[in-house]
Amino acid sequence: MLEDLIAKIKTDRLPRHIAIIMDGNGRWAEEQGQERLYGHFHGVESVRIIVEGCAELGIEYLTLYAFSTENWDRPKQEVEGLMSLFVDTIRKEVPVLNKNNIRLHVIGDLSLLPADAHRELHEALDMTSHNTGLNVILALSYSSRWELVNAVKQIGLDVEAGKIKAEGINQEVLEQYLATSEFPDPELMIRTSGEYRISNFLLYQLAYAELYFTNTRWPDFRKENLVEAILDFQGRKRRFGKTDKQIEEEAQLV
Ligand code: IPE
Ligand code: IPE
Ligand code: MG
Repeated sequence: MLEDLIAKIKTDRLPRHIAIIMDGNGRWAEEQGQERLYGHFHGVESVRIIVEGCAELGIEYLTLYAFSTENWDRPKQEVEGLMSLFVDTIRKEVPVLNKNNIRLHVIGDLSLLPADAHRELHEALDMTSHNTGLNVILALSYSSRWELVNAVKQIGLDVEAGKIKAEGINQEVLEQYLATSEFPDPELMIRTSGEYRISNFLLYQLAYAELYFTNTRWPDFRKENLVEAILDFQGRKRRFGKTDKQIEEEAQLV
């Protein structure tokens, strides 16, 4: 039962930020003799349910990998289908986001999106900008290498313009140039569908995230699966390079 599972969560040790690689839509559809887009369509239902679940649990940030830079290389029909699904979904979901005090953000190279998707997205960002509850960050036309190259380029331009000094560049400065500058790093990264890779997702930000992989395809991913991932996360020992003994001593000081 979902309630029994939720009761096991230690509410004082929730991850602040969960990132999800929503994978397996295409195979889910093909396994049922359907077109890949049918899987993407059903994947939207999982997004709805997991966003709601994160809001209910009190998670502060949820990043969803919806479309990678590399996904532009998929067949034209699939890319177009996905783009119109994004537009329809964003349009439909804005009132629900507002009702639930959820703020939408987006990271990625939006200049590559078709004009209507671009417009719809900006409207949704504006219309939810006053919300103070869960932050949902859509990674759209996103890849870490795009983000890092972009950051390095911007830093170079700012050095050239005399705005910053090369010697002054440290982690904090670099982080301000990333697409995620407003968000804390994810503590938990979930990938569905039985693939064990990162696929160009938040390479810098996931440095110390706990990784959780499940065979469940994204269209089948439900609140139970989310809670299981959180429970698994809470069973992990996070050392950040230190020894167990140091971590235990620090815990006693708190
Ligand atoms: C994830 O599902 C959604 C996107 C990448 C847009 P896939 O479309 O990658 O599904 P599989 O991995 O081919 O099953
Ligand atoms: C990663 O999934 C991107 C998204 C989930 C949006 P892919 O299905 O595109 O990744 P690969 O190609 O299997 O690594
Ligand atoms: Mg995939």
